Amino acid sequence: MKIDPETHHRSLYRTLTGAVIPRPIGWISTTSEDGVDNLAPYSFFNVVSALPPTVMFAPNKEGGEEIKDSARNAEANGEFVHNVVTADLAEGMNQTAATLPPAESEFDHADIERAPSEKVSPPRVAGAKLSFECEVQDIVDIGHAKVVFGEVVLVHADESVLTDDGKVDVEQIDAAGRLAGNWYASTDDRFRMVRPD
Ligand SMILES: Cc1cc2nc3c(=O)[nH]c(=O)nc-3n(C[C@H](O)[C@H](O)[C@H](O)COP(=O)(O)O)c2cc1C
Repeated sequence: MKIDPETHHRSLYRTLTGAVIPRPIGWISTTSEDGVDNLAPYSFFNVVSALPPTVMFAPNKEGGEEIKDSARNAEANGEFVHNVVTADLAEGMNQTAATLPPAESEFDHADIERAPSEKVSPPRVAGAKLSFECEVQDIVDIGHAKVVFGEVVLVHADESVLTDDGKVDVEQIDAAGRLAGNWYASTDDRFRMVRPD
């Protein structure tokens, strides 16, 4: 079977999200101009540069919907926080995907504890083992998506997920990844390969 976007008039959403797996989940906190703390998961998320340290997330407008709160807030005040979703936080993360009016905070809706950030105004998720405070570097419109790029200006790391020399220990961090539909993957099933010289 061939799927050609030119002649395939339905969305390729399910094909793309079924094939690009597992996707890391950006759990993005932002604060609105009215001071409401927003929190939402974005699996169209990744790291794009190590120097300067830069991540991106991509809110999509589905069927001509309004721009999502996370994109509006990041655009308005130029700041967001990414919180790593570990297995213990997955259920809470899912609750924050509820479609709420901008005046209602997903932190309160899903009973997620906040922790203050230092260099940006949106709060962190207190239970996250790793959080990145980010300043918006650019926002690029791609079709129905807004791709929000953020420079990481401060990392918060719980020592339980760090090695003695301060690196993130992949054997300790059980991060959740998104597959298609309601399926998720965990990173506790790992294998090693030595890269050739
Ligand atoms: C695990 C997960 C990943 C998601 N990834 C995205 C995404 O990459 N882009 C998107 O537009 N919506 C995504 N969603 C849906 C948004 O989280 C949802 O629309 C949310 O209500 C947006 O919140 P906001 O308007 O407060 O930003 C995802 C939902 C879940 C559960």
